[in-house]
Amino acid sequence: MSTTAVEPITELAEQIARLKEERKAVILAHNYQLGEVQDIADFVGDSLELSQRAVGLEAEVIVFCGVVFMAETAKILSPQRTVLIPDPRAGCPMCDMAPVEEVRKRKAELPGVPVVAYVNTTDDVKAEVDICCTSANAVKVVNSLPDERLLFLPDKNLAYWVQRHTEKEVIPWNGYCPTHQRIMPHDIHRLREKHPEAKVIVHPECTPDVIDLADEVLSTGQMVRWAREAQAREIIVGTEVGLIHRLKKDSPEKTFIPISMLTTCPNMKRITLEKVLWELEDMRHPVEVPEDIATKARRAIERMLEVV
Ligand code: 13P
Ligand code: SF4
Repeated sequence: MSTTAVEPITELAEQIARLKEERKAVILAHNYQLGEVQDIADFVGDSLELSQRAVGLEAEVIVFCGVVFMAETAKILSPQRTVLIPDPRAGCPMCDMAPVEEVRKRKAELPGVPVVAYVNTTDDVKAEVDICCTSANAVKVVNSLPDERLLFLPDKNLAYWVQRHTEKEVIPWNGYCPTHQRIMPHDIHRLREKHPEAKVIVHPECTPDVIDLADEVLSTGQMVRWAREAQAREIIVGTEVGLIHRLKKDSPEKTFIPISMLTTCPNMKRITLEKVLWELEDMRHPVEVPEDIATKARRAIERMLEVV
């Protein structure tokens, strides 16, 4: 790597570190963030780990490097803190597949049926549901309910995955992640042929035909821990490509092969080092959740945190 490519990043990282001190801020980053953003974060993790981390922080300011629903979850759990998102356009298309009016309509069609919401939902949807879950704890959350049927939203693929691990009837919503939807069975066949010794790990947002071909189905945080312990030297990774940076850093002795170069989440990639610095300078994008919505949504998130 040439020094001209490194210096601007180092310079930016130093400016961020200085300003972070001044603002008494911490930087939380999701595992899909750009490598240089992960590298300046105080904590990098999956959705569950990030929400758990947001609860116990001492800092006055959280700079959240991820998509909006994640920053909103941090704000709901830490209403007394300023939560900043360096680019408020970093949405999640899966969240938008479950608008609150449609959720209310479906609930009315299913009286008495509890609703489980993946954290990949808007704050007003979280306020309508009984309990939240993440990809790391979805099965556990569903099995913790006393009911025999439940509505699960918005990810149909995660719902199908949970259905494989519960006796309960999981009624899916018709949402999906456009990034994970791009992973195809032929990607796995092709890579297994090329790397016969490799293990294949995929995210539960993948389609059932992809899940059928995988060795392990894991949240991004579980992938990091699994790879650390794995005997395999080569691991084919079926999730957003940002995780490869985290995996390589965490287990440098292993080889990680992205399942496809198409698995990029453009919204996660909206957050850059420059935007993190500008946000610390101007604090222009504080995340706001109306109090009545936050109170109800907090109940559903905290109920999840009690289960795990
Ligand atoms: P994790 O909670 O497994 O990190 O997943 C978050 C996400 O948005 C997956 O697309
Ligand atoms: Fe949403 Fe998919 Fe991006 Fe995750 S990877 S934030 S589910 S669009």
